[in-house]
Amino acid sequence: MYKIVRKAILNPSVVLMDIEAPYIARKAEPGQFIIFRIDEAGERIPLTIADYDREKGTVTIIFQIVGKTTRVLAEMNEGQTLLDFVGPLGVASHLEGYKKVAVIGGGLGTAIAYPQAKKLHGLGAEVHSITGFRNRELIILEKEMEAVSHKLIVATDDGSNGNKGFVTNVLKQLIEEGNKYDLVIAIGPLVMMRAVSNMTREYGIKTLVSMNPIMIDGTGMCGGCRLTVGGKTKFACVDGPDFDGHEVDFDEAMRRQGMYKKHENQSTEIHVC
Ligand code: FES
Repeated sequence: MYKIVRKAILNPSVVLMDIEAPYIARKAEPGQFIIFRIDEAGERIPLTIADYDREKGTVTIIFQIVGKTTRVLAEMNEGQTLLDFVGPLGVASHLEGYKKVAVIGGGLGTAIAYPQAKKLHGLGAEVHSITGFRNRELIILEKEMEAVSHKLIVATDDGSNGNKGFVTNVLKQLIEEGNKYDLVIAIGPLVMMRAVSNMTREYGIKTLVSMNPIMIDGTGMCGGCRLTVGGKTKFACVDGPDFDGHEVDFDEAMRRQGMYKKHENQSTEIHVC
């Protein structure tokens, strides 16, 4: 059993939890994920590791309340336990050897971008972070991102934080101001990662995206997480979750992501009613 040792509400629909999982905390690296199950009857949900503390033996997860399971998890409190918490799964991000990197987090994607920015910062890279949210109430991890970035620009779609814009526009401006990035990392909604990848392709900048498709076993057995990358079938759980953004077939990924929307909505309605 895996105990929830800390719970924090980051915004009205996003929750942070530190889970006691010493063996995972000991080995976790940025880019990797866990799969949890609340109880025997629960579905398996993959979540990218947002942080870890090897000394305390905790792993931080940050999730958005989007369906039945995340709603049930959000209702749980410190001291309660999860039945399964498996990981670290997936390939750790390769972040060594870069000098100047733009790290982009779109919405909840900021929770996944944060450990990447932190690691790059620790490796001595100049990190320019750009995060984007619909409005200022939804902004998360601002202080944390600031602490690991040479420059942080937080943009909102409606300008309610005084900085209206989309992450793609901010990145374009930074590039055109003469910033020479040897890597761009974009993590967030598929439309955002596609837009960033299309833009960086024009500038010839290597771009990594983090794919989080439907997953079941997380070990390459079921094929549920398949994607097309560079014309080849890849499994996000064992070949990723990081992939070259210029090679990912985002249109196919979007079609697959919407496949179970109806079932998810029905399940949430049953839980809420
Ligand atoms: Fe089953 Fe990746 S989740 S193959």
